[in-house]
Parts: sequence; structure tokens; C-alpha cells
Amino acid sequence: MAKMVVLLVLFTLFLSFSTNEVGCKRIYREDHMELKRQLKHLNKLAKKTIRTKYGDTYDCINLYEHPFFNYHSLKNHTYDFPVRSTSNPKGIRDQKSSLLFNPSNFWLNGKGCPDGMVPIKRNTEDDLKRAKLATEIHNSKYKPLTIDRPGTHYAIVRTKNTNIVYHGGSTSISIYNPKVEGTQYSSARIKVLNGPDSIEVGWTVNPTLYNDTSTRLYTFTKTSNSSCFNTFCKSIIPTSTDIPLGIPIVPISTLDQQFDMKFMLFWDSSNGNWFLKFGQDETDIGFWPKNVFTALGDGASYVEWGGEVFSPPDMPSPPMGSGRAHLQQDTVFDAYCRQIKTINETDFVVNAVDTEKLSDIQQYEVLDEGMTGAADFQHLVLFGGAGGYTGNKDF
Ligand SMILES: *[C@@H]1O[C@H](CO)[C@@H](O)[C@H](O)[C@H]1NC(C)=O
Ligand SMILES: *[C@@H]1O[C@H](CO)[C@@H](O)[C@H](O)[C@H]1NC(C)=O
Ligand SMILES: *[C@@H]1O[C@H](CO)[C@@H](O)[C@H](O)[C@H]1NC(C)=O
Ligand SMILES: *[C@@H]1O[C@H](CO)[C@@H](O)[C@H](O)[C@H]1NC(C)=O
Repeated sequence: MAKMVVLLVLFTLFLSFSTNEVGCKRIYREDHMELKRQLKHLNKLAKKTIRTKYGDTYDCINLYEHPFFNYHSLKNHTYDFPVRSTSNPKGIRDQKSSLLFNPSNFWLNGKGCPDGMVPIKRNTEDDLKRAKLATEIHNSKYKPLTIDRPGTHYAIVRTKNTNIVYHGGSTSISIYNPKVEGTQYSSARIKVLNGPDSIEVGWTVNPTLYNDTSTRLYTFTKTSNSSCFNTFCKSIIPTSTDIPLGIPIVPISTLDQQFDMKFMLFWDSSNGNWFLKFGQDETDIGFWPKNVFTALGDGASYVEWGGEVFSPPDMPSPPMGSGRAHLQQDTVFDAYCRQIKTINETDFVVNAVDTEKLSDIQQYEVLDEGMTGAADFQHLVLFGGAGGYTGNKDF
């Protein structure tokens, strides 16, 4: 009975967030069929099955057998397709050590897939449905939170409009676990944009996507053709044997100790692909082939850092970052993006300059502290809020 209710609620939510156009629904169904075909195909490719301490099942498949390779016509990839960036961004790096992420705590076997293989989550139909709903929600970028319009809110710092082509950006973001309910989400991320295309990467608490309230790694890819989280559309190709997208990020910051995680997006100008580098040692864990994009395949025109939340119209908006009502201008209390950097046209990682801040409602604050003089923090951004915005509705 409880399950029926959940399904009914999900179904109703799905209906309320999908647009009324027949075209969209057809695309949904086709996507869905395509994903089901993929699932079948993946099952055939599975060489080994591994489990996580959270009860999820993953299949290990050979990296080069990932179905997206064929889709993107990356022929002859066994020889010449770079699944790691061909060069690394240059410049001075992090002084302070951020969270030493240990994926072995995630896997029951303590190590993930064998060398040369990548873990692919064995998704259920429910996972696919929830991922689709999560995408619909994420794409509904309405500012006002009114009775009939859900609300997405931001507190970010971004580069100003210039002619610079960014080869990427990076930051270390503090890890929190803001309390969200229902279809709400609360994220902290770095984002690169160009024209209709964007890539977001960071952590999110998103029960619609993950069916739990853990803080998890996520990517969101948007192009003129499609948009999705993680690998739910043919965008990012995962390349890590032990760090899948969606992995929980622990530990969570407290007043006693703050933990953060480094995220880097790097555009490899020699092939046009975007690489996701994760953690202190900037491990490549996935890449987006150039031909996924129309504009971003030629580099980024903007880089953004900060928080984003969503709430449906029937509940007050959720906390962002550490969830305090007002910024204390102190990284012990406030969520932060430290060492916000861009990667310049000669592939140097440099401190972000010419930035501006943006938050759409006063419940979420952001401070661009600029260069702080502290080597650990350098160009620092503080963001967050308790939420509780109800729009023009009384609760
Ligand atoms: C594939 O790449 C290898 C090495 O670059 C090359 O020797 C071979 O001729 C290529 N094969 C095809 C079919 O293009
Ligand atoms: C969500 O997780 C719970 C266990 O916490 C499980 O019983 C339920 O079936 C899951 N729901 C969906 C929609 O996957
Ligand atoms: C977008 O769709 C068009 C037509 O459906 C297709 O030709 C193009 O290759 C697609 N672009 C990407 C980046 O997938
Ligand atoms: C990139 O940064 C490096 C190091 O600061 C600098 O030497 C180089 O001139 C910069 N390149 C561009 C294109 O701005």
C-alpha cells in the first residue's frame, strides 16, 4: 500500500512537471525505450558484478565497450581516443589538503572494478523514472515560488561577460548535507557555460534523483538537444574504476571540522573534449566528447561557483550550504568555494578575476571575498541560507 502511494505521488509529480506538449512526451517515451535498450545491452557487456555498502549493484564493463563510444562515432577509439586529458593544466595548486576521498569505503570489495573497467550502476525502471523527473525539475528554472510555479534559487559568483575562452575552472567546495524533502534539492557546484551548453559538477542532496538524502557527487549536462544528470543521457563517459558519478561524498562538515572536495572541469583544446577531474590529485573520472556540444566544444565563455536549490510550490524553500540564516563571513560557519580558479587560454590554472555575484532572493546570500591573502583560501566565495522562502503564498 505504501509503495502504491509512493508510486502514485511520483506519477502525479511526473505529470505536473512534464510539459503539456505531446512532442515532449513522445521524446520521453523514446528516451525511455532507448535507456531500456541500453540497460539490456549493458547487462550483456557486464564482466563482473560488484556491490556498494549502500546496497547498490554495479556492473563492471570494459571502458572501451561503453555504449556511448559507438553512439558518438568515436571510431578506432581503442588506439587513439583519449580517455584521459592529453595534457594537464599548468600552474600552482592547492596548498591545503582537501578531503582525502577514499572510494574503498564505498565498495564491499574495497576496490571497485578491475583495471580497464568502469562501474555502471544497474538501474531499475524506477531509477530511470526518477532520473527523468529529476531532470524535468532541474530544467524548470522559475524564479518565483508561487502556487503554480516551482522555484529554483541561486547564490553564485560568476565570471563577467568578456571575450575570454575559458579552458575550464576549479574549486574546492565544502561538504554539507542540507535537509531537503519531497522533490526539493540543494546543491553546490561549479558550472561552465557556452551558448546553449553547460556542464555542472559538484555535490547535491536530491532524493528524486537518488532516492535518499545523502550528499552525492553529480553532473548535469545541458545541450541544445538534451539534458540529464550523470549518465542518464549520452553525455559524459565515465572512466574511473572506482569513482562512479553519484557516489556519496563523506564526511560532512561540522563546526569542529570542515571538509571540502576539489572539482575541476578542463577543456582539452587538442581534442575539444571536456574532462572531469575529481579530488585533491585531480583524477580523471569521466569526459564529455566534443561532439556532444554545439558551443562548449570550443571552450567556455563563463564559469560559475556556488549554490542552487529547488522547491516545489507547496513547501518553503530548503536550506542551502551549511543552512545558516545569515553568512558569518567565516568558513567555519558558512559553506564556501575556496580557490576559485579559471583555466586560461594557455592552459594555466589561475585565480578567477573579473567576477560578479548573483543571488535572486534574500533568503540565500553569497559573498565574493576576492583574494583573501590566505594561501589555503585565495579567491574565496561564501554562500548559503536557511531558506524558508514561501513566495507569495502563506503556509
Ligand atoms: C586506427 O589507429 C591506428 C593507430 O593510430 C592506425 O594504425 C590504424 O590504421 C587505424 N585504423 C583505422 C581503421 O583507421
Ligand atoms: C527508495 O528506497 C527505499 C528504501 O530506502 C525503497 O524501499 C524504495 O523502493 C525506493 N523507492 C524507489 C522509488 O526506488
Ligand atoms: C542534435 O540533434 C541533431 C538532429 O536531431 C543532430 O544532427 C545533432 O548531431 C545532435 N547534436 C548533438 C550534439 O547530439
Ligand atoms: C595564462 O596564465 C599564465 C600564468 O599566469 C600566463 O603566463 C599566461 O600569459 C596566461 N595566458 C593567457 C592567454 O592569458
